[in-house]
Amino acid sequence: MPVPLFDTKTPLAPLREALHAKAAEVLDAGRYILGPEVDAFEAELAAHLGTPHAIGVANGTDALVLALRAMGVGPGDDVVVPSFTFYASAEAVAVIGANPIFCDVDPATFCVTPETVKAALTPHTKVVMVVHLFGNIAPVEAIAALGVPVLEDAAQAAGSRTADGRRAGALGAASTFSFFPSKNLGAFGDGGAVATADDALAERVRMLRFHGSRDKVSFELVGHNSRLDELQAALLRLELPHLDAWCDGRRAAAAHYDAAGLGELAALPEPVDGCDPAWHLYVIRHERPDALGAAFAGRGIGCKRYYTVPLHRQEAMRPWGDVALPGTDEAARTHIAIPMSPVLTREQAGEVVAAVRDADLG
Ligand SMILES: Cc1ncc(COP(=O)(O)O)c(C=O)c1O
Repeated sequence: MPVPLFDTKTPLAPLREALHAKAAEVLDAGRYILGPEVDAFEAELAAHLGTPHAIGVANGTDALVLALRAMGVGPGDDVVVPSFTFYASAEAVAVIGANPIFCDVDPATFCVTPETVKAALTPHTKVVMVVHLFGNIAPVEAIAALGVPVLEDAAQAAGSRTADGRRAGALGAASTFSFFPSKNLGAFGDGGAVATADDALAERVRMLRFHGSRDKVSFELVGHNSRLDELQAALLRLELPHLDAWCDGRRAAAAHYDAAGLGELAALPEPVDGCDPAWHLYVIRHERPDALGAAFAGRGIGCKRYYTVPLHRQEAMRPWGDVALPGTDEAARTHIAIPMSPVLTREQAGEVVAAVRDADLG
């Protein structure tokens, strides 16, 4: 039985007619940029997160750039960022002339810890960017207690929450989301958002997404053209009410893996203390990830090794790459993502676990 690495189509199938009707409505209405759908989606996302402001932007990378700038980060400032993450997390720091100061992760959770962040702080650290990698939630409050504002890169953690019911993306000074189609909340193209409880910071992001202007006539900042468009916002509005149920499906999929005995064969991702992840990707660790990959490929099971070259070892990050990050290197060497989706069945999980059990690891 082939099992895809992720499945975005099946969860959306019941919404197909509503999505098509909504797309037609927006096309016919003729308002495509910063109109009523974006306003409504921003209000609904903010309510979902339990934070006063959500601002739609063009994608998750721009969300990071705009949030960092709105937090006052500029050329020469230091921003602590993990090395074991998607490239955009550090790229957003470097593109505004700031220095990504790479910190380590705990390979068991794939997230930064207060200890790894503390070790990376400098006298010039303006912001700590934590990444809620794979849907886990980095310990924001303990990191904020170190005294530097925390920006949450929640691109992979829409729908993840803490045990006491707060959302990833509502824990730090500001947070960012990506609505890339394969994400937990995925658009039909690019999209992103910044969320914050800080009125002034929200106002700066709103200005920065529109060329640094409040009124489209006077320009107070050198900004960007980075807007979530009406069509994406309208479609995301139809999806948002289903996000929690989809995330419960992801949690159930993780439970299927556990029940099938995967934990005896490989290291399972550990939720950070006090967090209830909606696993965006289900990433296990094994001493022979390539042999596992070959076994999966032989049975039509999707898998992927996402971050085999961590960011501090990437060519473009060479100026900031001279740092020893043993947890990151271990995660990079041993990780492999296996199928995960809101609709992954017990049988599919059993098939994946059987492939691990039968793999030729000699
Ligand atoms: C952790 C992380 N940060 C940032 C991004 C960037 O988001 P986007 O692709 O929407 O620009 C992604 C998405 O791939 C991501 O996974």
